[in-house]
Amino acid sequence: MKTRKALLDALASGPVSGPELAEELGVSRNAVWKRIEELREAGFGIESDGSGYRVESVPEFGGAAVEYGLEAPYSVEYHDAIDSTNARGRELAKAGDSDVVVLADEQTAGRGRLERAWNAPSGGVYMSFVLRPDVAPMEAPLLTLAAAVATTRALREAGVDAGIKWPNDVLLRTTGEKLVGILTEMEGEADRVSWVICGIGVNANVDPDTLPEGATSVREQVGDVDRRVFAQRVIEGFDSLQTDPDAILGAWRELAITLGRRVRVETRDGDVVGEAVDVESPGRLVVETEEGTARVHAGDCEHL
Ligand code: BTN
Repeated sequence: MKTRKALLDALASGPVSGPELAEELGVSRNAVWKRIEELREAGFGIESDGSGYRVESVPEFGGAAVEYGLEAPYSVEYHDAIDSTNARGRELAKAGDSDVVVLADEQTAGRGRLERAWNAPSGGVYMSFVLRPDVAPMEAPLLTLAAAVATTRALREAGVDAGIKWPNDVLLRTTGEKLVGILTEMEGEADRVSWVICGIGVNANVDPDTLPEGATSVREQVGDVDRRVFAQRVIEGFDSLQTDPDAILGAWRELAITLGRRVRVETRDGDVVGEAVDVESPGRLVVETEEGTARVHAGDCEHL
């Protein structure tokens, strides 16, 4: 998969000859030819003339399609249908993989937060980042905030009026209907994470009547989105936020619809009710209650 990404990066930068590709990728010319044939079978239109191989057309969606022109160092494993991209991500992580995005058109057993099922009909963008970040488990929630920021930005670019509800739901600002759910899973020791799976489920080109109550889709709001470009924007946005916790929090505050609202957060220690005033690293919600300032790490948040 890494060779395919390298080949697609080389093709994206202009016409390139077989020998140049062989040299750049460190493989034989025959291997290059085979890889080009694989791309053609995957739906790429690739011409070859005196100046070399030239990409004329790209398939609508898929792993190679998303990798082509992707300005982030991820390979993309695509499935038309899979039980859960997070479950597949765990398999890859346990096998030692990293910097992979598992992407699917449909999930048959999508997983949501709090052991709930996640409805994932065909036409969505269901993706799971497989990462091995050099962070403590305590800091991992920041990745979830980054995923919400990257997805909200991509939705707004597509014309959808999206905003973030703490901690990581992306909703339509006007009605509060849900567009995106995010589920982060990880394994690690006390001071260091081994791997993180950050799963993002976007109700993209999905008929609203296949969604649960309280949910909406990009299709319902603005019509179908180009899922290839959309997935690229999310991956690139997520990647560029990774290294900068301050940028994540700043962007999250700007896109949040929870701040300044009265909320009720159900936590393990009981409900916290008051005005949500800020978010702090690595994702704590600051709530001004009648009893004073509360800082909430996790819980189900309801806007009142
Ligand atoms: C939620 O409950 O709001 C979180 C839903 C997360 C769904 C996504 S879809 C891609 C990834 N794979 C899964 O099985 N779940 C996450």
